[in-house]
Amino acid sequence: MNFPLRSFFQDHPAIRYLYFGGKGGVGKTVVAAGVALWCADQGKKTLLASTNPVHSLSNLCGADVFGKPCNVEAIPNFHVYEIDTRETIERSKNEIKGKINWFLKFADLPVKADDFVETATMNPAFEESAMFENMINLIIEDEYDLYVFDTAPTANARRLLGMSKVYTLWVDKMLKSREEAQATRLRLSFRKKKEEEPDPLMDYLSAFRERIEKAGALLVDDEKTAFFFVTLLESLPIAVIRRFVGWFHDFGIPIGGVIVNQIIDKSQVTEKTAEFIRNRVKMQDHYYQEVHDLFGNICGEIPLFEKEVKGMAMVRRLSGALFHEG
Ligand SMILES: Nc1ncnc2c1ncn2[C@@H]1O[C@H](COP(=O)(O)OP(=O)(O)O)[C@@H](O)[C@H]1O
Ligand SMILES: [Mg+2]
Repeated sequence: MNFPLRSFFQDHPAIRYLYFGGKGGVGKTVVAAGVALWCADQGKKTLLASTNPVHSLSNLCGADVFGKPCNVEAIPNFHVYEIDTRETIERSKNEIKGKINWFLKFADLPVKADDFVETATMNPAFEESAMFENMINLIIEDEYDLYVFDTAPTANARRLLGMSKVYTLWVDKMLKSREEAQATRLRLSFRKKKEEEPDPLMDYLSAFRERIEKAGALLVDDEKTAFFFVTLLESLPIAVIRRFVGWFHDFGIPIGGVIVNQIIDKSQVTEKTAEFIRNRVKMQDHYYQEVHDLFGNICGEIPLFEKEVKGMAMVRRLSGALFHEG
């Protein structure tokens, strides 16, 4: 018998960033936790992080992990963290406000920054970009061997990925016009020392672009990064990952494989089992074949448990099923 998920880790010894995508409710969070736990058991200092504005890791792990990374149940190497998006948004707002104020003064415009700041920050994309920044910050801080990200549902994740490209374009454009504006000022100025004058906006934008570029490069590095897709054996979740896989090819983002969740254990199904369940088994057989035909090898299979996955004991059970242990 082969163990595809284990082989994946054997074949990717330098892997550092793992992501899990799929339709809402298919088990992304529990699978991310199961994989993170296994990696921690392998001796890798692991961070399971949620960049989602709606968190579920505290509930899953039975510990308050909101706002700072916590070592859960003293399990060696296993750290969990729900990032406080609101805090990041506030911080970014203030940062942007400072920059805009500086710019308005620089340009001699008698306008208050507040209106600009509200317009710039009162939209969902801003929240997503704050989440994206949080993720990049964690990666750049570089304190863990392995990062497992419990990502937002599909559409957001896609926008998040597209955002890194948009950012680069935007920042390049901003930098160009800043350079032009500075050149003009320099030409119009009588003083010669203008060149040395600090330009916080420009510095910020250059640093920002550098960070984005670094993150973008990591995201497409197939030795370090892998996206896994989680699906149920049902039509809609399969349709979602099918679309997802297409986008990822377009973005050049490495795909680790497809994990199938909530498979009904056939050994427990007999002629006497309720028709309702026998029908679902037939349905699952059909979709299993479909997933196999669409995506090739399935890299992990998890049974439907008799209860929800909640608490570290259940995460351990799921992890055992995923990696064929126990
Ligand atoms: N294999 C499974 N057996 C039983 N319950 C499961 C299984 N996988 C997931 N669940 C339950 O399904 C729900 C959704 O899982 P979750 O990981 O939160 O999904 P997502 O993060 O994709 O929205 C949770 O209540 C979880 O406990
Ligand atoms: Mg989730």
